[in-house]
Amino acid sequence: MNHGTAPGKIILFGEHSVVYGQPALAVPVGVVQAHASVTPLANEFHRMRLTARDVGIDAWMDELNDSHPLALIIRLALEALAISGNGLHVELRSSIPIAAGMGSGAATSIAILRALAAYAGKTLPAERQSELAFEVEKIYHGTPSGIDNTVIAFNQPVWYIQGETPQPFTVSGELDLVIADTGIHTATSQAVGHVRQRWEKDPAGIAILFEQMGQIAHAARTSLERGDLASLGSLMNENQSLLAVLGVSSRELNTLLHVCHEAGAFGAKLSGAGMGGNIIALTHPEPIELIQSLKLAGAEHVYHTRISS
Ligand code: PMV
Repeated sequence: MNHGTAPGKIILFGEHSVVYGQPALAVPVGVVQAHASVTPLANEFHRMRLTARDVGIDAWMDELNDSHPLALIIRLALEALAISGNGLHVELRSSIPIAAGMGSGAATSIAILRALAAYAGKTLPAERQSELAFEVEKIYHGTPSGIDNTVIAFNQPVWYIQGETPQPFTVSGELDLVIADTGIHTATSQAVGHVRQRWEKDPAGIAILFEQMGQIAHAARTSLERGDLASLGSLMNENQSLLAVLGVSSRELNTLLHVCHEAGAFGAKLSGAGMGGNIIALTHPEPIELIQSLKLAGAEHVYHTRISS
C-alpha cells in the first residue's frame, strides 16, 4: 500500500484585510490530517475506484467528471506522474473539519497527489503539488487566493499578498497554538459581505483599519522570524481589537478569547472569516488547562498544534 498525508492550515493574521490588498499570514496545522492510500483492486484491471467515506463517495472514476474536485485532482495527478490509474483504488480519510477555514479541500488534494506519487515511485516537488492543488481550489472557492495549497504543500508558514506568489518562510523556535471552534458556522461570503458594506459606507475609515491590520501582519512576520512570542501575542490581541471594530467578532468568539486571556495566553484572536468559526491562541507548550476551560466554555472542537522550523 502507498500513502500520502497532508496537514490542515489556519490564518494567523490578515483575514479580511487581505481581500483589500494587505498581507496575510497562514500556518500549517499538523494535528489534523488528510490521508490517502492507493491499493491494487482485487478483480478489476480496467477501471479506477475512489472511496471517500467522510463525504459519502464510493464510485468508479469514469462515473465522475472533472467538476468533481476529488476526480479532478486524481486525473491531474495521473497526468503529472504519467501513469494509468486502471486497477487502482484510492481511499481518502480526513480529520480536518470541512468548511471550517482549515484547508480541508487543499489538504485532500495534496494527500492524493502524494499517495499516487508514492505508488508511482516518483516525487512531486512541493511547488508542483501546490500548482496542481490550486487548479482544484478553483472548484471549491471560485477565486481562491492560493494560500491554502501553498501552506499545505510546503508545510510551512506562508506570507501572502493578493496577486503575488505566496511565499513560504521559516519561523524561529516553536510556536504552540490552540485552536477552538465556536461551533457556529457563518458562510465566509456573509462575513466578507458585511465587511464590504462597512467599507462602502465609510471607505476612508475602514481603509485605516485595513492599513493597521497590514502593519500588524508585517510586524508579526518579523516576530515569527525572531521567535518573539510576547510581541506576537500582543499583535494578535491588537489584530483582534481591529477585527472587533470591523464587526466580525461575536459574543461566542469573545467568550472563548476571554478564557484564553484568563489562562495567560500570550495573545488570541479570531481566525478566518469570523462571526463564529474559530479562535486561535498563542500559548505555553502544555496548554491542557486552557483546552479544558475552552471546552467548558462551549468550544466544539479544540486542537493544540506546534509549529517549528
Ligand atoms: O476561514 P478561511 O481560511 O476561509 O479565511 C477567510 C479569510 C477572508 O479573508 C475572510 C476571506 C478571504 O477570501 O480571504
